Amino acid sequence: ADPEPLQDFCVADLQSTTTINGFPCKPASQVTSDDFFFSGFTNEANTSSNDFGSFVTPGNVEAFPGLNTLGISMNRVDIAPGGINPPHHHPRASEAGVVVQGQVLVGFVTTAGVYHSRVLAASEMFVIPRGLVHFQLNVGIEKAILITSFNSQLPGSVVAPLALFAAEPSVPDRVLARSFLVGEDVVRSIKAKFR
Ligand code: GLV
Ligand code: MN
Repeated sequence: ADPEPLQDFCVADLQSTTTINGFPCKPASQVTSDDFFFSGFTNEANTSSNDFGSFVTPGNVEAFPGLNTLGISMNRVDIAPGGINPPHHHPRASEAGVVVQGQVLVGFVTTAGVYHSRVLAASEMFVIPRGLVHFQLNVGIEKAILITSFNSQLPGSVVAPLALFAAEPSVPDRVLARSFLVGEDVVRSIKAKFR
């Protein structure tokens, strides 16, 4: 979904003060082999660092500057047994993923309100069409690991519960109460969990 590259590569200069759509290129004379390799997925992620029991290690252009202008990126997703990568969407990319380890319920909802889902085992693949809300729930007894890929160097991720209940400044209680057809006390109790 990203624009086509105009050259072989354009390793991002993340330090540049020039702001453009994407990142400016580091001078080719300073580019080395290291710019085209990324070891950020080798670390075991800590899935108990949040209440969801999951952790996404991004392999996007901000973590891996060699991806700049190439229109692709990947994530590693670790999910504890019973943990969830909560409902979220990527405004700039479709997602294709493969379960590397574990048993994972993958689901998404179309713009017509249709829910599609399947429980996947290791080596099975899924696709989430661009912009649709989706989640992954570890339904197995071991830790789950997924590798996901995107047709954007920076797909963006809007995590529904955090966008609505943990934004700063806060979305007004009245807006959420009216939208979820509950009292403001319910909204406040949900917000309190994200503080
Ligand atoms: C999983 O849904 C991911 O965005 O990596
Ligand atoms: Mn996703």
